[in-house]
Amino acid sequence: MNKRILTFTIIAGLFISLTAFVSKNTQRPLEKPKTVFTIPEDVNTIFQNKCFDCHNVNADGEKSKKKLLIDKLPTLSKAKLIGKLDAISEVADEKEMPPEKFLAKYPEYTLTDDEAKRLSEWATAASDKMMK
Ligand code: HEC
Repeated sequence: MNKRILTFTIIAGLFISLTAFVSKNTQRPLEKPKTVFTIPEDVNTIFQNKCFDCHNVNADGEKSKKKLLIDKLPTLSKAKLIGKLDAISEVADEKEMPPEKFLAKYPEYTLTDDEAKRLSEWATAASDKMMK
C-alpha cells in the first residue's frame, strides 16, 4: 500500500471512530435529568392573589415585568432562578411587596404575616436546593 493511501486510511479510520464515539455519548447523556421546578399549591395561591397582577407576561407595568415574571420562573436558567428566588424571599421578609403606593389604594393585597413567612421560607428552601 502506498504511504499516502495508508496515512489517509488511518486518518479516516480515526475520524470515523471519533464520530461514532461522540454520537454514542451524546445519545446517552450521563448527567442527571434537569431538576424540575414546580411551585407548591399554597405558594401559588399567594402569588395568584397578591403578586401575579403585576408580575406576569401580560401585566401592564414594564418595571414589575422586568424584575419578575412569575409565570416564566420555570423557564429560567438555574442561576437566574436562584437570583429571583432570593429576591422573592427578601421582599417577603421585608414586606416590600406589593408596593406601598399600591397598597394605599388596595389594602386587601397586603401580605399577611403567615403569607410573608410561607413565601420567604419556600423561596429560601427552593433556592438552597438549586445550589446543591
Ligand atoms: C401593583 C403591582 C405589584 C404587585 C401587586 C407586586 N409587585 Fe413586585 N414589583 C412591582 C414593581 C413596580 C417592581 C419594581 C420596583 C422597582 O424597580 O423599584 C417590583 C419588583 C419586585 C421584585 C424585584 C425586587 C428587586 O429589588 O429586584 C420582586 C422580587 C417582587 N417585585 C416580588 C413581588 C411579590 C413576591 C409580590 C407579591 C407578594 C409582588 N411583587 C407584588 C410591582 C408589584
